Amino acid sequence: MKHLIIDAEKCVGCGICKSVCIRDNIEIIDDIAVDIESNCFDCGQCSTICKQNAIVLKAYQDQMDRIEEYNPREIPVSYDDMLQFLKQRRTCRWFKRKKIDSETFEKLMEAAYYSPNRQNIQDVEFAVIDERLDEFISHVYDIISVKEDEFFRIRQLGDYLRDEARDPKRHPLLWEGKQLILAFSEAKTDAVIAMTRLELLAYTLGLGGFHSLFIGMADEVNHEKLMEFFPEIDKNKHMYAAFIIGYPRVRYRRTRPHKQIKLTYM
Ligand SMILES: Cc1cc2nc3c(=O)[nH]c(=O)nc-3n(C[C@H](O)[C@H](O)[C@H](O)COP(=O)(O)O)c2cc1C
Repeated sequence: MKHLIIDAEKCVGCGICKSVCIRDNIEIIDDIAVDIESNCFDCGQCSTICKQNAIVLKAYQDQMDRIEEYNPREIPVSYDDMLQFLKQRRTCRWFKRKKIDSETFEKLMEAAYYSPNRQNIQDVEFAVIDERLDEFISHVYDIISVKEDEFFRIRQLGDYLRDEARDPKRHPLLWEGKQLILAFSEAKTDAVIAMTRLELLAYTLGLGGFHSLFIGMADEVNHEKLMEFFPEIDKNKHMYAAFIIGYPRVRYRRTRPHKQIKLTYM
């Protein structure tokens, strides 16, 4: 089956598309690029490198209005700006009451839309936990409580959930968090990469938050049970990233020291 629509009027047969194809799906025949129906996985290298804009991916025709031309010589962010941005990112657990609306969550999805993923499978999906947050945390606790002896925080969560007089401002898992965003995929790296990019984009919108070890643990301890909460998500996908997100009510003023990163050249 052909994956590419190649405009023979536009194509000049330069062969750059063929040179970047890692599936040997393109041949130059009579000075025109031809889809030889090899093993194309719609990675789009050919269509994005073509100077003539002569190649369209059949599978993505409905997404064509999202294609943007850019100047390949221009790097949109400088090293210094990007590094400064990364330096200023801080884990934040203290939030304003204001909730993030669905329009803003949609904006964050853009970070995932443009994420790399193994074999171009694009199976990462997200869930926002908002109104059902208490129910979700109880579900998570039911799963991770088997690890209470190993992690004091889980024991603390159990005590907190049982305590009628609890302080809702110091939730041992969420702190002041009121909304959660979760990423699911078959391969761990895909969800983690997408969530990391989403997190960074979130900072540009004045948002902040933190990743959660314990919520993530629910998937490791009992994936089947965790997924009962998500009947609409394919069971082959795992919850590989959980980020508590909100509008920070605190402001961090300086960087903090880190351990020196080890780098080995071999
Ligand atoms: C995978 C992961 C899991 C984390 N889990 C939690 C968590 O369960 N609770 C929490 O308060 N912070 C959690 N954090 C935040 C870390 O504690 C935080 O990144 C660390 O203290 C360094 O601070 P910084 O992010 O401001 O540099 C987690 C961070 C990562 C990357």
